[in-house]
Amino acid sequence: MISAGWRSEILEYSIKVKNLVKNYGDVKALDDVSFDVRKGEIFGLLGPNGAGKTTTIKVLTTLTEQTSGTAFVGGVDVLKDPTKVKSKIGWISADIILDEDLTAMENLHLQARLQNTKDWRKKAETLLKTFGILDAANKRIGKFSTGMRKKVEIAMSLISDPEIIFMDEPTIGLDVATRQMLWDLIRDVNKNHGKTILLTTHYMEEADSLADRIAIIDKGKIVAIGTPSELKNKVGGTVIDMEVSAEFDKKSVEKMKNVKKVDIKNNHVMITLRNENDAVEILRRIDLKKVTSFKLIKPSLDAAFIKLTGSSINQDNDTDYRKLYSIIRNNTRG
Ligand SMILES: Nc1ncnc2c1ncn2[C@@H]1O[C@H](COP(=O)(O)OP(=O)(O)O)[C@@H](O)[C@H]1O
Ligand SMILES: [Mg+2]
Repeated sequence: MISAGWRSEILEYSIKVKNLVKNYGDVKALDDVSFDVRKGEIFGLLGPNGAGKTTTIKVLTTLTEQTSGTAFVGGVDVLKDPTKVKSKIGWISADIILDEDLTAMENLHLQARLQNTKDWRKKAETLLKTFGILDAANKRIGKFSTGMRKKVEIAMSLISDPEIIFMDEPTIGLDVATRQMLWDLIRDVNKNHGKTILLTTHYMEEADSLADRIAIIDKGKIVAIGTPSELKNKVGGTVIDMEVSAEFDKKSVEKMKNVKKVDIKNNHVMITLRNENDAVEILRRIDLKKVTSFKLIKPSLDAAFIKLTGSSINQDNDTDYRKLYSIIRNNTRG
């Protein structure tokens, strides 16, 4: 039985995951994973290869069943009513999903049929127009650039007007410009189309730049959850690094609210803050006459990740699985 308190919590969040375990034989792909995704946010699941990101998405999109624990998507239990869950979501997998031989419009039609979407053509045209590729609607995907394919995939995930979109490593293997373009598109889908987004990534800067909140996952376990700045502050906080021309009144700054500590070395005063948002307020209260220059040193998500997991995300092993799958597909075709 679900208690009344639980029930209202389930409805308050887009996604609610509690004590999720998924075993593949002896491998614990998910080891007691719990997190909530709020309505309207971009939630990032950040972790290295093999951390359990895809497995989490597979459970939440009902492609696989968990070993134990519960998961609600759009207020619906993934085990009890997978069909209803599917009607509330759209997803983009890291595997290739477009049919090369079909046009963009035909791919969208296929997706619309899979999801029983009515009025699909009008929706498809609006989406392609919004994404600036309406001109290419009737061209075969085989002739599309990577960026255009990505746009079609995102349009496909939106065709049924779902509440929640899942994106598994949406920019893996893309060049910097295409990645930047996609980030803008993902923000647009979130802000202007009003979609809650759960995305996975092993790119620090992607999670940092896109996500309202991040869960760091490592070896099937969530090691931390917070906003990018909350996670960064776990490793020591933002530092105001000032160069001063004369004796500096250390004590008065130490007494200020939200100052963690003050270090003085040669003519440098380093003020460690509790929260980076306090920098302006603290600078306002300092006598700046003796200050000749200053800079803000922000802690990085990389540093937070290393502190939390004991190792850095291995970015060398950046296989472009999409390309790989596409090569395999094309080679196994008649
Ligand atoms: N179908 C499967 N059969 C056996 N092991 C699997 C399967 N899918 C994933 N795993 C294992 O589960 C762990 C998590 O994998 P995955 O969720 O794909 O990680 P990520 O997406 O973060 O790279 C890995 O150790 C992986 O080898
Ligand atoms: Mg994966």
